[in-house]
Amino acid sequence: MWGGRFASGPAEIMEEINASIGFDKRLAPQDIRGSLAHVAMLGRTGILPPADVAAIEAGLKTVQAEIEAGSFTFARALEDIHMNVESRLREIVGPAAGRLHTARSRNDQVATDMRLWVRDTLDALDAQAADLQRALAEAALRHAGTVMPGFTHLQSAQPVTFGHHLLAYVEMLGRDRGRFRDARARLNECPLGAAALAGTSFPIDRHDTARALGFDRPTANSLDSVADRDFALEALAAAAIAAVHLSRFAEEIVIWTSAQFGFVRLSDRFTTGSSIMPQKRNPDAAELVRAKAGRVIGALSGLLIVMKGLPLAYSKDMQEDKEGTFDALQTLSLCLAAMAGMVRDLEPVPEVLKQAAGAGYATATDLADWLVRELGLPFRDAHHVTGRLVGLASARGVGLEALTLPEMQAEEPRITDAVYAVLGVENSVASRTSYGGTAPGNVRAQAERWLEALGGEPA
Ligand code: ARG
Repeated sequence: MWGGRFASGPAEIMEEINASIGFDKRLAPQDIRGSLAHVAMLGRTGILPPADVAAIEAGLKTVQAEIEAGSFTFARALEDIHMNVESRLREIVGPAAGRLHTARSRNDQVATDMRLWVRDTLDALDAQAADLQRALAEAALRHAGTVMPGFTHLQSAQPVTFGHHLLAYVEMLGRDRGRFRDARARLNECPLGAAALAGTSFPIDRHDTARALGFDRPTANSLDSVADRDFALEALAAAAIAAVHLSRFAEEIVIWTSAQFGFVRLSDRFTTGSSIMPQKRNPDAAELVRAKAGRVIGALSGLLIVMKGLPLAYSKDMQEDKEGTFDALQTLSLCLAAMAGMVRDLEPVPEVLKQAAGAGYATATDLADWLVRELGLPFRDAHHVTGRLVGLASARGVGLEALTLPEMQAEEPRITDAVYAVLGVENSVASRTSYGGTAPGNVRAQAERWLEALGGEPA
């Protein structure tokens, strides 16, 4: 393809380090789409005669069919997807194939292909994240009133509802989807026609190709068009944040399914056994989602490091954008699917959750709030009285509700037996009616709001 001024071919090791076909062959659909848009524009602008345009279009469709059928032979000697497609096109249509690359370079070609791939992938990730949100919101609605311990420092803090906990992840995923959409909106400019770096002397119509490929407009600076990969970085950053969210939830599933917690049961479908310990039910899928955040974050830092300090415009360094981006976004897709499956199969164990919700003096804040509300104590004093009562209960190894009224009155004489009403976990969550709070009514309303917004059929 570029051998005109070369007397010998590349060294074996040169070919090996240079070739990207092993991983960029997945850009074949995008590459052919881009070429079809380009050649149609070359025809419309009169740069190529109709006969050549027709031959190239038909040839590209044949190549596409061969790739889809799996009969296409990818050759490492042809370096990358762009030259593999073009070389096969020449075999099919003859010399006219050589005219396809008029007013184009592999530099704007690959930038276009990658934007198309990342754009398609962001759309698919958005749909998958919406499906996971739907699974979570449906479970939240079923468990709007199921009490569980809420934690800070992984110590029992205050009772919350299981539905409220799930909806926390629905909110996170909502922001993740916002980041996918923001990244998509910014990447949606077409680099095709920037050519190698400086634009072209042919009378091309970049607005035409941009439109044909579903971009909002052509990119405005030819150097920037071929030199930046910030669209991939943004997609990876959004993916890394989403992967971190999933990883935290995965870790909670690992903790909750342990025999020590026993908060939830995970179906056989998402559990594995041990070859030596018959009693084991291991949450491998959750552990892998927890771990896979590592490679998504790795891809982001890898590409940031590739791009830093690169002078404008294109350098071959940028070929290193691909494997990490492909792997990371595909990994996130797998994690979203696995999480949606687990959420749909996850069954909380209400008795265990309720018992745990009351453990660790989780309603101590309710007692302190009662002393403030009913007796007019300053919060700091109420905190002190409550602390003494927790100390007393803890020394006896019982819950707050097991203290007698005289025992409580020894600390604060004005306490009445009305106090027992706030010491139960159900009362505690029911009282948290502030906006965004865990009261079952709130949780139901939020879950319904999300389900309505998410609408539609599962992805
Ligand atoms: N395979 C190359 C890449 O992924 C295509 C662009 C090659 N351009 C060049 N001037 N060598 O970046």
